[in-house]
Amino acid sequence: MPITVTTLVENTAGTPFTIGEWGQSLLVEADGQKILFDTGPSALITKNATALGVDIATVDRIVLSHGHYDHTGGLQEVLVKIRESVKHTAGIEIIAHPDVFTPKYFYIEDFVEKYIGIPFPREELEALGARFILSEDSVRLSENMLTTGEVEISVDFEKIDKDLHVKEGEEQVHDKLADDMGIIIKTDQGLVILLGCGHRGIINTLLHAQKVTGIKQIYAVIGGTHLISADKQQMQSTIDAIKGFNIKKLGVSHCTGLKSAAVLAHEFEGAFFFNSAGTKTVL
Ligand SMILES: [Fe+2]
Ligand SMILES: [Fe+2]
Repeated sequence: MPITVTTLVENTAGTPFTIGEWGQSLLVEADGQKILFDTGPSALITKNATALGVDIATVDRIVLSHGHYDHTGGLQEVLVKIRESVKHTAGIEIIAHPDVFTPKYFYIEDFVEKYIGIPFPREELEALGARFILSEDSVRLSENMLTTGEVEISVDFEKIDKDLHVKEGEEQVHDKLADDMGIIIKTDQGLVILLGCGHRGIINTLLHAQKVTGIKQIYAVIGGTHLISADKQQMQSTIDAIKGFNIKKLGVSHCTGLKSAAVLAHEFEGAFFFNSAGTKTVL
């Protein structure tokens, strides 16, 4: 069963004719299914898809990793393209966590309060054909593909960014990012795990994927790891944990940050790759 992961949107352009923009969107093809995992922040997704020879209207389902704008802002444009397609006259399923529509903010007291949630009302997306399936639990996508569901926090060295908030009434409170989730693909070589932003932590997500599937071997990890603000201690604990998993392919992107990506490139030379816009990984 060939599995391909094509990066439609990422902070940096990795191939000619693609454009980089802060955010992420991955197209995963497995079990005869095409799953769009996030949409990036804008209509750029359709331009990059065209540049890569991908017909965005042919995706079977959409999964949202969480409710931040940089993973959901392209939704409107994608739904318009899909609505024009003969394949989806009845609309398209979008799988996400129930907290995905919670208004989210980047907040630093006395300095900044910026809305960073999904930039469209749910009703507007539904009018364009979105059929939301919101679940805290793992959702089966095909014979071998499933979402992680809500990621359990197991290790203490991964912390959710303190500047990410939600509102309780008028009060800003820390966002636990319960909606953050990934996609798991079962293969003969082990699990392939796709991450959105990895806000709940890369190691927490991998441990959770093992628990959900009962499979220990992790073959590949692709996507955002949110190591952008990790200190030396967290990086070392993360590296030690990744070594324990014996991962064969590690394609980091987006909120990994260039400095942390460089550290991982050095530590995992044989497995590492930059997962930029235009990167196509065949597994
Ligand atoms: Fe995020
Ligand atoms: Fe992100």
